Amino acid sequence: MSSSSSNRLPGGLTTVGAKMLVALTGIALILFVIAHMLGNLQIFLGAESLNEYAHKLKSMGPLLWVARIGLLAVFLTHIGLTLALTKRNASARGPSAAESPSNALGERYRDGYGYQTATSASRYMIHTGLLILAFVIYHLVHFTIAPDTTALGTEGNVYAMVIKGFSQPLIAAIYIVAQLMLASHIYHGASSCLQTLGLRTPSTKPAISKAGLLLATVIAIGNLSIPLAVLTGQIS
Ligand code: HEM
Repeated sequence: MSSSSSNRLPGGLTTVGAKMLVALTGIALILFVIAHMLGNLQIFLGAESLNEYAHKLKSMGPLLWVARIGLLAVFLTHIGLTLALTKRNASARGPSAAESPSNALGERYRDGYGYQTATSASRYMIHTGLLILAFVIYHLVHFTIAPDTTALGTEGNVYAMVIKGFSQPLIAAIYIVAQLMLASHIYHGASSCLQTLGLRTPSTKPAISKAGLLLATVIAIGNLSIPLAVLTGQIS
């Protein structure tokens, strides 16, 4: 097999092309998470604000479905290519390398780059990623596919549904753990994306790492504030 053909993944993508797509879809997903968080934070402005926002989204009609299908395609591309790259790297490098730490794409840091440079966030990218996938499936069932209609009512009282959901400690705990996984994933993912796109150089690396940490912290605080505020009775 020639080296160029061995570099190709299912679907004919090269490794570099697949990594680029993982990076670009990762950036799109981060933008979605930020927009979704800003929308959800309207819960602190009261029931009317959050319900009006949710109603506006629903009244987008077919456009909402275009956005949903686009988001699903981005999400599946990100996960599918990451899994394909991880599998390919593990089988290409053999069992001993498979024990060393890896980043989101399954790249191992044993040689040259320095074993100790893999942070725990980078080492667990595939695990945090799969846990986020499990959370998103749970979250969609919980709030969108099979919402609590006794709270939601016929008027679409999303505020009451969220308050009722997070008043149950187990449900709030699931969301809290998921937001910590998401923060870890975004912290490493943001700088990993920029590395793939060639924007992370030795001189920009420290600043990019700090910006990734800041971004992950802001998203974690924003998302965690909602279940925590409900659990502690700040909003009801
Ligand atoms: C504490 C954090 C979060 C809260 C309070 C929250 C709240 C909600 C609510 C209320 C809905 C239903 C909206 C409606 O029926 O109008 C929703 C939908 C959704 N959420 Fe979240 N969410 C959170 C975190 C996340 C995260 C971290 C992700 C992704 C990584 C996510 C992805 C989605 C998606 C994909 C939908 C479906 C949107 C649609 O209807 O097409 N959410 N969320």
